[in-house]
Amino acid sequence: MDLILQKSIQIMKTLTLIRPDDWHLHLRNGEILKTVVAHSARQFQRAMVMPNLKSPVVSVEDALRYRAEILQALPSGSSFEPLMTLYLTPQTSVEDIQKVAENPFIYALKLYPAGATTHSESGVTNLNVIYPILEAMQKYDVPLLIHGEVTDTNTDIFDRERIFIETQLIPIVAQFPDLKIVLEHVTTTEAVQFVSAASQKIAATITPQHLLFNRNALLVGGIKPHYYCLPILKRESHQRSLIAAAISGNPKFFLGTDSAPHITALKENACGCAGCYSAFAAIELYTEAFEKENALDKLEAFAAFYGADFYGLPRNTTTITLEKKSWEIPSQYGEKNHLITPLNANQTLHWKQQ
Ligand code: DOR
Ligand code: ZN
Repeated sequence: MDLILQKSIQIMKTLTLIRPDDWHLHLRNGEILKTVVAHSARQFQRAMVMPNLKSPVVSVEDALRYRAEILQALPSGSSFEPLMTLYLTPQTSVEDIQKVAENPFIYALKLYPAGATTHSESGVTNLNVIYPILEAMQKYDVPLLIHGEVTDTNTDIFDRERIFIETQLIPIVAQFPDLKIVLEHVTTTEAVQFVSAASQKIAATITPQHLLFNRNALLVGGIKPHYYCLPILKRESHQRSLIAAAISGNPKFFLGTDSAPHITALKENACGCAGCYSAFAAIELYTEAFEKENALDKLEAFAAFYGADFYGLPRNTTTITLEKKSWEIPSQYGEKNHLITPLNANQTLHWKQQ
């Protein structure tokens, strides 16, 4: 067969999806923002923007200022919409909740147990203290986004999510049955079981790294800091539960990357920061995970429908197209003083957004 004929019968495999949203994203501020927001804006229409800046986003004013900074950093012509969140602290007031409920740009509050992760020092140690706030959130229908891990230093890091569900989340749900809750970046069989069995008010996001990897990626053959995130990757049986949830067609489980850029020097460090940077090709990473399971038909709803439905927002109407095409993930993104190592750097991805 001659080459031209051979070429012409090669069928280009493409996948067109309604443009997805990222329901859990770290954009940071300052220098790094421009690089990372451009990546997200290329793929996603909207993103729920996490408030754990070095100086946390605790007030409506902070969130509006941060939103303006994000919009300013976007590539020109982008229609990307940052959906803002506030950081729940022991100082958060009922008045703050009322203000959030009235504000068209702020969608939720994020609960970090103090000490759970990056910039979580301003978080909450004793959840009983915030019960009046949760009451107000329930009343005004403001969703609570939870980093679900206990933080006492004696608890094994691999058990922190399970124990949070048992000791903190179950009592909250019992006390506030109408409070909308997203258990963010779930990592365990127990979390999948809990969310599946809970009311329609409870949902969960799942990251690409927790679908694609388990703790072997982090620890076998040397410590691989770019696979270190929190909650930490668990054993394979948990990974299997997450995959099953993601491809199940259960609308309680939807896309949230938790893409969390840190400069390479702070990841490759004696005390490396937690976070995987996936925004450069988030949808391709999810596509690989779904394709491995022969479940590409379930990807669009997971990536573009269920999150919007949960938050009561309209589904997007434009599309993105992915092409089946191998390419090598670069070793770094960003500028000289803030280089970021992407998730799976130097490895091959088999899909590429056009
Ligand atoms: O790995 C993580 N990185 N988990 C989080 O919860 C926070 C995030 C970050 O902000 O770096
Ligand atoms: Zn996060």
